[in-house]
Amino acid sequence: MGVRNSTYNFQNVSDRVGAEAELLRLQEQALMGWNKEFRTLQGFGLSDGMNILEAGAGPGFVTGQLLRHLPNSKITALDIDDNLLETARRRLGDVPETRLQLTQASVYETGLPGNTYDFVIARLLFLHLHQPLQAAMELKRVLKPGGKLAIIDIDDGVFGALSPDLDVLPSILNKLARQQAARGGNRHIGRSLPRLLADSGFQDTDMDAVIQHSDLHGIEGFNCQLDIGRFKAFCQQGIITEEEYDALNTAYEHFTASPDAHAMMLFFMACGSKPAD
Ligand SMILES: C[S@@+](CC[C@H](N)C(=O)[O-])C[C@H]1O[C@@H](n2cnc3c(N)ncnc32)[C@H](O)[C@@H]1O
Repeated sequence: MGVRNSTYNFQNVSDRVGAEAELLRLQEQALMGWNKEFRTLQGFGLSDGMNILEAGAGPGFVTGQLLRHLPNSKITALDIDDNLLETARRRLGDVPETRLQLTQASVYETGLPGNTYDFVIARLLFLHLHQPLQAAMELKRVLKPGGKLAIIDIDDGVFGALSPDLDVLPSILNKLARQQAARGGNRHIGRSLPRLLADSGFQDTDMDAVIQHSDLHGIEGFNCQLDIGRFKAFCQQGIITEEEYDALNTAYEHFTASPDAHAMMLFFMACGSKPAD
């Protein structure tokens, strides 16, 4: 089964917020950003016909897009969580084995053959990992020489912007980041992605940002992602105070009531190549 060594466990999140709510949040987050993320992945060199590994694929929302937009590629969707892979299997339906392989394994020790993949994508996985360097080196091992690893992640230090502003949000996000760091994750990982890639032996590293924003997606598109109800659980766990939760709730009510409400969120996309020799 392999070691999880990460801060994301779908079962635990489901216990707090409900499985359907978490699946919906992941779905909105994946589908809203897809067009721009795909465009950037293509800019990094992703193309149809490639042998692709998606690490930490979870319920397969991105996997479905890859299958649709790369009709001649084979996708291997890897995740530590059997139940999420089962959800992906149900959602994606009857896809032939020549197109899709679902693999239950840890990103630290994938068990996949070396020098096999042209392109590896890891989306919203690395912020959760206790040993990101070890994971990046394992993904380098399975890449063909010259193959690329693209990491898509967040950085709460520059998460985006809301208008009207939620004044209390930055200090609350800081608390969440500190708590995540204490558990071994990193909600500020965005800024260190090129360095992480270089430290794990990748070359030609670069990074871009894509922006999901409400002028494009509508403010409703952000409801799940901003869902302040989720912060109730952080309050119950003692990560934020009741006063902070109440202040956030009030500010969010003001935000949703505003006819000019605007939201944008940044996702960082870093890429590096495995050296050719
Ligand atoms: C936040 S979800 C992101 C899912 C998907 N990539 C997306 O963008 O919607 C993180 C995923 O990483 C998986 N994960 C956590 N630790 C892992 C590990 N050590 N090895 C492989 N997958 C892991 C979780 O099970 C979960 O599916």
